[in-house]
Amino acid sequence: MAAKMTVPRIREHKVSAGDDPLVMLTAYDAPSARMVDSSGADIILVGDSVAMVVLGYEDTLQVTIDDIAYHTAAVSRTNPSAFVVADMPWMSYHVSKEETVMNAAKLIRAGADAVKLEGGRRRLPMIEALIDAEIPVMGHLGLTPQSVNVMGGFKVQAKSTKAALDLVSAAKSLVHAGCFSLVLEGVPSPVAAMVTEAVDVATIGIGAGPYCDGQVLVLHDVLGIEQRVLPKFVRRYADFHGEGVQALAKFADDVRTGKFPADEESYQLHDDVVDEIKLYGTI
Ligand code: KIV
Repeated sequence: MAAKMTVPRIREHKVSAGDDPLVMLTAYDAPSARMVDSSGADIILVGDSVAMVVLGYEDTLQVTIDDIAYHTAAVSRTNPSAFVVADMPWMSYHVSKEETVMNAAKLIRAGADAVKLEGGRRRLPMIEALIDAEIPVMGHLGLTPQSVNVMGGFKVQAKSTKAALDLVSAAKSLVHAGCFSLVLEGVPSPVAAMVTEAVDVATIGIGAGPYCDGQVLVLHDVLGIEQRVLPKFVRRYADFHGEGVQALAKFADDVRTGKFPADEESYQLHDDVVDEIKLYGTI
């Protein structure tokens, strides 16, 4: 098995230098973390996507720092070989540098190796404060789901020349401030390629095409755990929902027809105890 990823190893990881693309997947609890880790993924992201794929919300704005800490702790209790990144949720890094650092510390104490936060230049003071406090930061640019209301929906970003150049410039600023890696979400492939070439840290794409130093997808989308409408960039590798419903329907049928539980799924008494009880006339 490959050695555990570290901040320096992720920072230096570039496909242009001959490295294989990094694999990052989300996980939110112990069983999903064990699955992702056993698959050999390099990085587990405890994403704020937990809001949508686990907790049933319409967007990611509802989860709090305590929610993410709770899920990070569940992931980290499995002692994964993969590097663990925890998402800073909306409003956990927007008010003051002090609050930002204390909130990030909650995630590190819950077991995260690093935190991720969304946004461009406006986030630089918070990123610098985190780096000052020795907390590694992964940036997240492009379609930033916490800005869903400002963007007017989950829409592909950086489609004009100006927006594309702004994104490249923001990426450079984030790296200059100390981000060890950048997630690029929902941007055209050529824009992701420009960023990947412009920065000397690993870029990890989602809906950003192939020219990144790694790829990330949401576990529930990859496994088909939910039947929600999927964005174009998702590839589904399994139908857990379909297979799960079939298995549960079979269980229901077995219960209703008396096929479950069978003798071998039930606890028995020793014959002599049965004989003794019979003396009391209750069997
Ligand atoms: O929360 C999340 O799952 C994410 C990925 C989509 C990158 O931020």
